[in-house]
Amino acid sequence: MMTVKTIEWTGSAARLIDQTLLPGKTKYLVIRDDKAMWEAIKMLRVRGAPAIGVAAGYGVCLAVLKAKPKTIAALKKAALKSSAYLATSRPTAVNLFWALKRMDSVLDLFAPDLPVSDAIDMLIAEAQSIQEEDRQTCELIGQHGAPLLKGVKGVLTHCNAGALATAGPGTALAVIYEAAKSAKFTVYADETRPLLQGARLTSWELQQAGIDTRLICDNMAGMVMQRGLVQAVIVGADRIAANGDAANKIGTMPLSIVASYYKVPFYVAAPLSTFDPSLKSGAEIPIEERGAEEITSFGGTNVAPKGTPVFAPAFDVAPAKLIAGIVTEVGVLRAPYTKSIKEAFRKR
Ligand code: MRU
Repeated sequence: MMTVKTIEWTGSAARLIDQTLLPGKTKYLVIRDDKAMWEAIKMLRVRGAPAIGVAAGYGVCLAVLKAKPKTIAALKKAALKSSAYLATSRPTAVNLFWALKRMDSVLDLFAPDLPVSDAIDMLIAEAQSIQEEDRQTCELIGQHGAPLLKGVKGVLTHCNAGALATAGPGTALAVIYEAAKSAKFTVYADETRPLLQGARLTSWELQQAGIDTRLICDNMAGMVMQRGLVQAVIVGADRIAANGDAANKIGTMPLSIVASYYKVPFYVAAPLSTFDPSLKSGAEIPIEERGAEEITSFGGTNVAPKGTPVFAPAFDVAPAKLIAGIVTEVGVLRAPYTKSIKEAFRKR
């Protein structure tokens, strides 16, 4: 299993591994204020929906510690300002907004005469709970999902939905790690253009875990399925609408279509904190668009003429009807998702 800690609270700062430098360099950043946390989220130094939520929770704590408020009113003001600011870092992963909402609701518990230091402790405790709950959730996702991979010779994944993206063993990769405890299979990892989370992070994680891995370019996934090399596809998600449509890293939607053509079950693994029941369908999910340079250059080298206009959506939406199951901490949800998602929230 992965031993690297994606994010840690030191008592006065957040320590996180700079994922933009992996696998070449293992460098930890010490984040001391919410401005640095905003930058770390925006630049994908910390990334993956659940990890972004955890990071944002600590971001609010750092803002409050830095503000050194003398009163509860001043503390609340600083926390709310920071939460609104951190919410502008990335738009698609709903875990960010979910975690910030949790931080905001702690503020409602503060009586005006509560000592400020107690209020700060409560905020830090909430951020730590978000992290610890996510760790446990990932374990459960692994356990619920592992039976889906029974008997597979190969499984394909996209982006990185592993330990680096969460506070535990991951979502899609938690299922793979759990299944690999009692079976041998090969994981085909999409490199995941343009930022190569699959090549840089997933293949790194899987190799450390001793799992047989084949790195492929994104445009090889169809051929891998046509050849019958995989019997399942499993990916994470950044936001899942009430009808089960699931947004995940760009390139996920075409995978779901090819998988359906070749009759390979396509699974999504995600905690309930990744669901957004306020959105009827995936069409309402905000899709982040990123800078042109992420496409026009590769490893610091220009690969397109200077000034080439680009379209750079960072996510796409796999339609619910192509998803064979959604693995959550309360079990595997099946179609019709509108119903099973509602039941999952009731069980929670
Ligand atoms: O842009 P990223 O690297 O944050 O995108 C991450 C993904 O798309 C993951 O698959 C998703 O957040 C699930 S992580 C458990």
